[in-house]
Amino acid sequence: MRTSAHSDAVVFFGATGDLAYKMIFPALQGLVKAGRLSVPVLGVAQPRWSDEQLRARARDSIAEHGGIDEAAFAKLSRLLRYVHGDYNDADTFRRLARALGVSRRPLYYLAIPPALFPSTISRLKSVPGYKTARVVVEKPFGRDLPSARALNRLLLSEFRESSIFRIDHYLGKEPVQNLMYFRFSNWFLEPLWNRDHVKSVQITMAENFGVRGRGKVYDEMGAIRDVVQNHMLQVVACLAMEPPQEFSPETLRDEKAALLKSIAPLGKDDVVRGQFRGYRKEPGVAPDSRVETFAALRLRLKAPRWKGVPFFIRAGKSLAATCTEALVEFKAPARTAFGERLLGRGDVNYLRFRLGPKVAIALGVRSKTPGEPMMGELSELVAVDRHAGEMGPYERLLGDAMRGEAMLFAREDSVEAAWRVVQPVLGDQVPLREYDPGTWGPSQADGLAAPYGGWHNPGVDGRGAVS
Ligand code: BG6
Repeated sequence: MRTSAHSDAVVFFGATGDLAYKMIFPALQGLVKAGRLSVPVLGVAQPRWSDEQLRARARDSIAEHGGIDEAAFAKLSRLLRYVHGDYNDADTFRRLARALGVSRRPLYYLAIPPALFPSTISRLKSVPGYKTARVVVEKPFGRDLPSARALNRLLLSEFRESSIFRIDHYLGKEPVQNLMYFRFSNWFLEPLWNRDHVKSVQITMAENFGVRGRGKVYDEMGAIRDVVQNHMLQVVACLAMEPPQEFSPETLRDEKAALLKSIAPLGKDDVVRGQFRGYRKEPGVAPDSRVETFAALRLRLKAPRWKGVPFFIRAGKSLAATCTEALVEFKAPARTAFGERLLGRGDVNYLRFRLGPKVAIALGVRSKTPGEPMMGELSELVAVDRHAGEMGPYERLLGDAMRGEAMLFAREDSVEAAWRVVQPVLGDQVPLREYDPGTWGPSQADGLAAPYGGWHNPGVDGRGAVS
């Protein structure tokens, strides 16, 4: 199969579920609106629904998440069909084959719990076109290194790696792509982007809300599995990877994988785990849960470019703000001229990448304040400051998967390398600290970043307002 051959049908399992409701239907309408989707779209799930019920569900979903565009929705409705049945029942797949009709290159989207993958994947073999099919899977890709390997083995037993699309929606975000673009397209950065000039790198993913009704699912994961192993480590890879020799999806993914492989597995002293007060009362959460809703960690990269430069990550729920931001702070030279007392945390030169909810790229610089003393103030040269683009990550990623474009998907080796990094600190191995909702997490986290001037709290010191 030519990898560029367009999928001629989309089949999404889990059509009545949460992921379809929040993400997939709105992305499908976006694709139709952009003229990028005109093939049949089949939703599969257990309830005995009709096509009309699926369309009504799609309408509710899109009305709630982004808004209905009547013309695009009408087109999408004409493409939508529903297939009911148990994923363990051969009849379901016979019905699916009939509904697919002449389609021979379907894109299968497994928006279902991983426990249902084995039976679903093995039964797909009975559906014509399975050899030229593509399959999309969602994070979590396993829950630790052994289960990720088992999942990869399962997928690779039926599909080639080039037909497997692992969605990490961070990779579909415009500002995450811009991390790489900005780095490699601004030539003055390359001589500075290394251990000689970078003091530390910090990434904060703060959310000022709790688990929003996902208590049961979240309580099986915690922050490290939910966002660090995937989103945060992918952001680290974009910030720290070597430039690829040439621009191609595989060379880019090779460099990312190489970077992730160069991160030392975390030690217990590298991590602070926290749980916000009140988490255990959330519906679905175990009353004695030891699961973290906050994690702060210090990564050590063995890549020569970064030897000795700490990469800090902090991610949590019920924090003081909602904001994802990376701060790359530059080192002071051996001699500074004016002897100003600086606080030493992002008050001289840095690059700030705000990834959401707003998007910004800003360079922190000092200039003299008017008056007699040779004293200055920090300001920012702002390269980007805008709302996130029109195209949401799911729309981008689904469209790419239909065209067989793999660049923005996580490859098997990257996924396993990322699990290798967090594996030693999964579960309840690191003490769990309580923190109050609305703060920046447990105070014990401060110690991690203290030798490097402490944590940068997005929105503080006038560096971009936060919600
Ligand atoms: C998801 C996590 O993958 O990413 C959620 O499961 C988290 O817990 C979400 O809230 C954050 O995504 P975004 O795009 O809002 O930063």
